[in-house]
Amino acid sequence: MELQLENIGCSKDNMNSPIHNWYKFTAGFSYKFVDYLLSDLSQDSVVFEPFAGCGTTLVSAQKNGYYSVGNEGQEFMYDICRAKLNWTIHKEVVDQYISQIKNRVFSDFESYDISRENPLLIELYDDYNLKVLCIIRNYINSIADESYKLFFKLALSNVLHKTAIYPIAVPYISRSKRIINNGQPLEKFVSVCDKMTNDIVTQPAQYHQAHVFLHDSRKQNSLIETNSCSICITSPPYLNNLDYGEVSKVHSHFWGITQSWNDITTKVRSNLVTGATTHYKETDFDIERFTNSEFAKNNKEVMSDLLALYHRIKENAHGRSGKKSFHILMMHYFDDMYNVFHEIRRVLSPNSKAYLILGDSAPYGVYIPTTQILGEIATSTGFQNYSIYKIRTRGTKWRSLSNRHNIELSENILELS
Ligand SMILES: C[S@@+](CC[C@H](N)C(=O)[O-])C[C@H]1O[C@@H](n2cnc3c(N)ncnc32)[C@H](O)[C@@H]1O
Repeated sequence: MELQLENIGCSKDNMNSPIHNWYKFTAGFSYKFVDYLLSDLSQDSVVFEPFAGCGTTLVSAQKNGYYSVGNEGQEFMYDICRAKLNWTIHKEVVDQYISQIKNRVFSDFESYDISRENPLLIELYDDYNLKVLCIIRNYINSIADESYKLFFKLALSNVLHKTAIYPIAVPYISRSKRIINNGQPLEKFVSVCDKMTNDIVTQPAQYHQAHVFLHDSRKQNSLIETNSCSICITSPPYLNNLDYGEVSKVHSHFWGITQSWNDITTKVRSNLVTGATTHYKETDFDIERFTNSEFAKNNKEVMSDLLALYHRIKENAHGRSGKKSFHILMMHYFDDMYNVFHEIRRVLSPNSKAYLILGDSAPYGVYIPTTQILGEIATSTGFQNYSIYKIRTRGTKWRSLSNRHNIELSENILELS
């Protein structure tokens, strides 16, 4: 198999692969990496994915005939993931639903009132598009068969990207660019559904269906048995201030999961690894208390390095516009990942390996050897060893900008055994 190292950490490869390409996710990674690791495993192996996202690991496992299990903390991504794993969809049934959806759009269009929709949606879609999208959404919400409901939800979520006035998840709403050809929501929806049904036909008829849970991987998932998995393949959030609550904000609002910033904080961010400064209240953090946490006590050497970094980042924040509390973010991030490692270690059988795709960080110009620190932390949770394989250099594009650092960052694979 052709595996290009520099593509492992991004979703470029996935765009040419059926099902993997059903939903473009900013933070995805290459399915080829998963296929590569699976090619060495016995067929009775079970794969664990604690950060399922749009399901790259689980879809690959299912395509290759492996059992797999995973967690995803966000309801919207959880639905996307389940839709990609559900291949019991039949073209005739899809066509029947589509014809009813078309009828519903024609019958409800005149009277549908979009003024009650979320203000963000009203701002991001022109009236015609928003009306059609909402009528389709309401029809989908009324479908009793969960498999088809998820299938159509994914299709319409995909169309939300193609019909907005601006790109909505790159990773954030980008109001400085406009999407040309953002019309014809119904036609786009039908065409996405057609593509998806055609893709399903090309998949193996017999497969072990992956199981994904709406669950926060910092906590034990009692539905996944101890020692039940043979390998973990994942990509956790990076320590780079990417707010997954923001990335899926438009979709979460559209599907009624959230309605406001406060909802995103309480219903979305609260279930995720702390990866952005929007995830916590600065005033709730107390460094003294943190120094006495279970994480700190079990990671004394790491903790002394982290404290030095903490003070340097805090100092460097002075005089910077925005003054983000990256020093606090860093502490929360490693503490959260410590809990995640406990859960990975519990789920994996003895002698199994975990592979994590990760990036290093340099908030306010202070280099944090993130992958190495995570390797050290993993050894405090029961892993014996770790190795780091660099897959690419990143971050250099900021070199020419005076307000950015010029530290070379890398993306790596962390192997835990
Ligand atoms: C880097 S992405 C994973 C990408 C994914 N492997 C893929 O290819 O789509 C991180 C994902 O982890 C989820 N996540 C973050 N913290 C989580 C947690 N504590 N438990 C479960 N999922 C979490 C995010 O919602 C996001 O979908």
